[in-house]
Amino acid sequence: MSIDYTSKIPNNVDLANDRTLQRALEHWQPRFLDWWKEMGPVDSSNADVYLRTAIGVDAEGWASYGEVKMPDYRWGIFLADRIPDRTIGFGDHMGEPAWQQVPGELRSQFRRIIVTQGDTEPASVEQQQRLGLTCPSLYDLRNLFQVNVEEGRHLWAMVYLLHAHFGRDGREEAEEMLSRHSGDADKPRILGTFNEPISDWLSFFMFTYFTDRDGKFQLKSLAESGFDPLARTCRFMLTEEAHHMFVGETGIGRVVRRTLEVMKEIGSDDPEAVRRQGAVDLQTIQRYLNFWFTSSLDLFGSEVSSNAAGSFANGIKGRPDETQYEDHVCADAIYELETPQGRESVSLRNAMNEVMRQSYIRDCEMGLKRWNNQIQRAGHDVRLALPSPKFRRSIGAWANVPTDPAGNTVTREEYDRRMPEWLPSESDRAFVHSLMQRVVEPGKMAGWIAPPDRGINSLPVDYEYVKLN
Ligand SMILES: [Fe+2]
Ligand SMILES: [Fe+2]
Repeated sequence: MSIDYTSKIPNNVDLANDRTLQRALEHWQPRFLDWWKEMGPVDSSNADVYLRTAIGVDAEGWASYGEVKMPDYRWGIFLADRIPDRTIGFGDHMGEPAWQQVPGELRSQFRRIIVTQGDTEPASVEQQQRLGLTCPSLYDLRNLFQVNVEEGRHLWAMVYLLHAHFGRDGREEAEEMLSRHSGDADKPRILGTFNEPISDWLSFFMFTYFTDRDGKFQLKSLAESGFDPLARTCRFMLTEEAHHMFVGETGIGRVVRRTLEVMKEIGSDDPEAVRRQGAVDLQTIQRYLNFWFTSSLDLFGSEVSSNAAGSFANGIKGRPDETQYEDHVCADAIYELETPQGRESVSLRNAMNEVMRQSYIRDCEMGLKRWNNQIQRAGHDVRLALPSPKFRRSIGAWANVPTDPAGNTVTREEYDRRMPEWLPSESDRAFVHSLMQRVVEPGKMAGWIAPPDRGINSLPVDYEYVKLN
């Protein structure tokens, strides 16, 4: 079904033929816009931004580009096309027809998962609210705004499911999505990472690399779901999400490149000397990476989880790219875990969170390889590395077990004492903040970041991607 842009809410779900649902969503729409005005990117409502908007849901040519004022962005409801005769691909319902309605007995589990996913979307917009004030270039400002409007659309995606399939409870949950706020003392967002402030662009790039990638894996596992509307929603969200991780990967790569240029210019790899030239030393980049990677690892939940087992068994949530596995039922398969108490064999179904986390970690490694290639080509021995998944965990078997980033157990005293080596310290943050000066002249870049290799949609890098007016 093609996207209907003539109605108030763009959609490809034939909203016009479901008056009740349409009215309910039209009732929610102004609340969303109020939220955007209050919690969305500051000082941006008048800017013309070169944004992409979905025009179709197939892989080829789904996006059209043009100048848009963000409050006029056509947020809507886009589901990937229905796969005819799709069957459930895992768990106890393997091979049964996919559900077009939520099975009554799984209602609360599905609702919880959709709410948890949905809550992260506006949360990240809130976290990034003030970044536009310190953008390193118009190119980056445009990318930030693109990410922001798409996270807003992801909220629409989840709110549609809540409204369409969960009746009054769903409508109440949709309201709640706009009343919790990132970092709010009384009504915070549901997941920890989404309450961490993102007050500088290095954190933004780390977030889009590591935390949006958690999103990718959550969406991939939900794209396997037996509940077909959820699977189709998530399949389309993944196409948008890919850009967010591109922003992270190229963003970190450009910071590294600039740092290497400065190291070459001054003929030194001394972090203090690098900082004096207004670039971020590789050690600080590593500490930021440690922070966001470890925080994102917790989002996958405990290594052993009866909830995860239930979700898999019941066809709610599969493994990312389920087709890569041979056994989709996993009734008696065993998974070997490393815990502080030693090796443990657990039922594979109970270890699904860990299976997901491990595929996430492998995916994270790809960017590190690229950044390290840059460093190697520049002739330096330093390497960026992912810390051990045992390090600084707050959830699961390794929660509150003091280890160093390599995963060796250390005393609590050593852990506390060496923390400034491992995570951004107050002075690291103050230094990074001191670099955050707004650059909005077309083609110009802040001194701590290299320009991108190419612009957006074949336009030059010095194109005026945001007209601030
Ligand atoms: Fe998202
Ligand atoms: Fe995202």
